[in-house]
Amino acid sequence: MSVNQSLKPITTKINDNGNISIGGCDLKEIANEYGTPLYVIDELTLRTICREYKEAFSEYKNIKMMYACKALCNMAVSKILSEEGFGFDTVSGGEIYTVYKTGVCMKDVLFNGNNKSKQEIKFALDCEVGRFSVDNFYEAGLLDKLAKERNKTAEIFLRITPGIECHTHDYIQTGQTDSKFGFDLTQVDDIISLINSKYNNLHIVGLHAHIGSQIFELQSFYDEIIILIKEMERINKKFKLNMNEMNIGGGVGVKYTENDNPPSIKDLAEIVTKAMKTCSDNLPTIYLEPGRSVISTSGVTLYTLGSSKQVPNGKKYIAVDGGMADNPRPAMYQAEYTAEVVNKANYKEKERVTIAGRYCESGDILIEDIELPKLETGDVICVYNTGAYNYSMASNYNRVEKPAMVLVNNSQSDIIVNRETYEDLVSEDRIPDRLRK
Ligand code: LLP
Repeated sequence: MSVNQSLKPITTKINDNGNISIGGCDLKEIANEYGTPLYVIDELTLRTICREYKEAFSEYKNIKMMYACKALCNMAVSKILSEEGFGFDTVSGGEIYTVYKTGVCMKDVLFNGNNKSKQEIKFALDCEVGRFSVDNFYEAGLLDKLAKERNKTAEIFLRITPGIECHTHDYIQTGQTDSKFGFDLTQVDDIISLINSKYNNLHIVGLHAHIGSQIFELQSFYDEIIILIKEMERINKKFKLNMNEMNIGGGVGVKYTENDNPPSIKDLAEIVTKAMKTCSDNLPTIYLEPGRSVISTSGVTLYTLGSSKQVPNGKKYIAVDGGMADNPRPAMYQAEYTAEVVNKANYKEKERVTIAGRYCESGDILIEDIELPKLETGDVICVYNTGAYNYSMASNYNRVEKPAMVLVNNSQSDIIVNRETYEDLVSEDRIPDRLRK
């Protein structure tokens, strides 16, 4: 079984105290020590999936794994991924800065995005990121100009919209026609002609596409790659180019609930390899940008139960000390999660509850209708599979401090992101002098 097919981190156990442990650390103790809400990342699960990706694609020699930082970006996670041989797909100056400060090889960094700012492009060029994925006509001109000013040539992918609709939430589809991302297939020849004739500081190395996220259907990847191959071969011939890199976008989906059955990493590698066999030219170097499947399963969030209420003839709500600001996915995409009670792992008596967040919105429900052991104030709840798109999408809604993040491994726990403080919340606020009078 691949890590992304597991609901929980691979080190999850019930220990002698009857508590859930991850990475050999008792989660009740971890919650007491660091407070809640708390993001916890299991290092072994993370390293295992990285190795699975490498192993699954080992037969395809020219492959570059670029972790999509948007799933979760901080220095400790970047350090681990770089040790595992991953490069980085970034989409902002902030993500580039984070991996730069981590000390990763900047040649293994790719800069994506549909509206990169001038300042971000300058920063990326100055940091010498290895690849840019150019998304639109405006950006091509801007990047060429800024590269010229620095006497550099930017190595670029052209992001195309392959026109593929896949079964995932509408908000996280990206490859359908009429998407905000990339060049429509009818515009590709125009951008190439423009670059060939005018933009001497851009060098096209290949095409890039991304169909969406939380994808279970491998056929969509296959269809996407076939389109990329055909386009590359057509363009190489027509424009006498020698593009030999192909960026196929993100990875597979993960298992949030028992009903989710994502394909394994090996299945993904097989379908990619099968599609690549249809190449009639030399096999290109493939770039893969998995985010969710790399980090999701290794992450859990711990919450403490505070108030609860039984609506007469209605639901029983239990309220935790976090919610939509640390995990906006249920409110945004109706995403479903699985949870357990850390300190009641062996309890048999169950009740049906709805886990509500602490934020001032009715939509702040983390899990609707879940069976859990009979709950009391102070119980610690572990929500699984929160590694991806939780911390990275967290906000300070209701002026609440963002949680800390802890890395666990071999019974050791270390803070990798400090919990924000009230002081942090006001640290960038300024009261203009004229208001002080
Ligand atoms: N490459 C590109 C160009 C992307 O746009 C994305 C994700 C990835 C790679 C990584 O895809 P993954 O392997 O994670 O599926 N916030 C949403 C997910 C948005 C994903 C956007 N693009 C969520 O919480 O579901």
